[in-house]
Amino acid sequence: MSPAIPPFGPHTPQWGALQAHFAQVAPLGRIDVRAAFAADPQRFDRFSQSAAGLRVDASKQWLLPETQALLLDLAQAVALGAALQRVWRGELANPTEGRAVGHLWQRVLTPEEWARVGTPTALQAESAASAQMTAQAAIKNIANDDLTPAALAAIARAQAQRREVLALAEAWRTRSGFTDVIHIGIGGSDLGPQMVVKALAGAQVAPTALNVHWVGNVDGHELAGALARCKPHSTLLVVASKTFTTAETLRNLHSALQWLQDGVGASRAAAQWVAITAHPANARAHGAQQVLSFDESVGGRTSVWSAIGFVVALVLGPAAFVQLLAGASAMDAHALQAPPAHNLPLRLGLLDVWLRSLCGLPTRCVAPYHSALGRLPAYLQQLEMESGGKGVDLKGEPLRAPSSAVVWGEPGTNAQHAFFQMLHQGTDVVPVEFIVVAQASHSLHAEHHQALLANALAQSQALLRGSAHVDGHRHFEGNRPSTTLVLPQLDAWHLGALIALYEHRVIVAAAVWGINPFDQFGVELGKVLARDLQPRLANGDAQGLDASTAGLLGWLRSA
Ligand code: F6P
Repeated sequence: MSPAIPPFGPHTPQWGALQAHFAQVAPLGRIDVRAAFAADPQRFDRFSQSAAGLRVDASKQWLLPETQALLLDLAQAVALGAALQRVWRGELANPTEGRAVGHLWQRVLTPEEWARVGTPTALQAESAASAQMTAQAAIKNIANDDLTPAALAAIARAQAQRREVLALAEAWRTRSGFTDVIHIGIGGSDLGPQMVVKALAGAQVAPTALNVHWVGNVDGHELAGALARCKPHSTLLVVASKTFTTAETLRNLHSALQWLQDGVGASRAAAQWVAITAHPANARAHGAQQVLSFDESVGGRTSVWSAIGFVVALVLGPAAFVQLLAGASAMDAHALQAPPAHNLPLRLGLLDVWLRSLCGLPTRCVAPYHSALGRLPAYLQQLEMESGGKGVDLKGEPLRAPSSAVVWGEPGTNAQHAFFQMLHQGTDVVPVEFIVVAQASHSLHAEHHQALLANALAQSQALLRGSAHVDGHRHFEGNRPSTTLVLPQLDAWHLGALIALYEHRVIVAAAVWGINPFDQFGVELGKVLARDLQPRLANGDAQGLDASTAGLLGWLRSA
């Protein structure tokens, strides 16, 4: 029997109270954060918090102490504390696809793995050792006490699968004569591993031993470019696909395999590729001999913790992969145990709902001040918009309030010279999330990093402060909301904690909206239509098409 669904946020009186609060404190649609700072000397402490080595300052946000209290009332009304617990325990968290949700279980480390994690450097708020012990003990206790037998079995399976992943990564890593990896996969089978590898490889100064070429798009330019930069005898193909039915991935696999076979012969080519999937039989049907698997319960957009993260271990080493999982696990322990008022993902998830659904701000900008985090906005687009971009609630009824914000962004300081004009003076208010890394990992002149940090701080300061000017063109209204997330340094632990923080926020916001964040039926219609249109591009048949599509088909065929 499935448990009763708690009331959805927009159906509760607490939602109405928040609407009334916004109308009262923001009669012109803006909250006066500058006045709030002036009135409350505790404001920074009140709205900042650390967890798993990350620090977050939300004091420049559109939040007043009353807002926070009302949001916590809403959390109670919708039984928000239970949302993540349901996922963790193994209940039917994804009812529209009839299954539990397994990404948290992927990062439950064994005692041997915890021993291998070593000491994460520069954990500032708590000592490294205690953060590790807390996470380890907390996860162990919760696992023993609360999980369904199916969840416990899934954890054991994930640990066994990880042993295979790390062993195969180590085997390929240490094999001589290999210089390049072509990683084929799309969506979560690309964005997670790509974002993590680029972040961690980019944060270290020494080049990695293996060059990775990322191929997601069915656009042959991407694969052709990768093949042109590689040599068949020194290239490993890694093909990641949860389903192993994704059209783009299979097209790329077959072209890449053909190239490999032409270069090294069929039998060597067969040994030179690794498939990663939740459906090993599908991969074997395409000739895969080396198959790494993970569970169906792991969603594509949260799959980097599973075998999908193979390339992280391959390029950066098994220890980095385990550290990534350890940081995420520490955030899980916090999210599952901290009381609502001190629970960072819960507070930030409520803030997301507040800004999007109650203040009516349709987009959110993520600006990482570290060039190695360049793929983070794209990664978050899938995580947040594929999860939160829903129009009906769990009962199938149209939502009464807007859900997912449009998430977008680019690294600073580059972004400052592109779209920050609009953030400061445009007609839309866009909340900004600054992601700042306290310590650099390069050894160039200290001014580089000081300038980077000064710019991040200056932007959030400018958004808040504004600057009055009689000339409207030179006037900055200020009171534009931002949050600043601080990592002591960009390493595997803190990156793991950061990604897990965003994952939990998504679950929290979805639970308030009353939606299922784990399905993605909205991606299907376009796939079906593309299958219909592909032969029409070859044969010119425009029958039954709308006039625009028929006209475009004609243009493309005649060019
Ligand atoms: O089309 C969307 C999607 O299903 C994503 O959710 C997923 O991450 C991606 O396609 C790739 O799917 P697969 O890993 O099965 O190839």
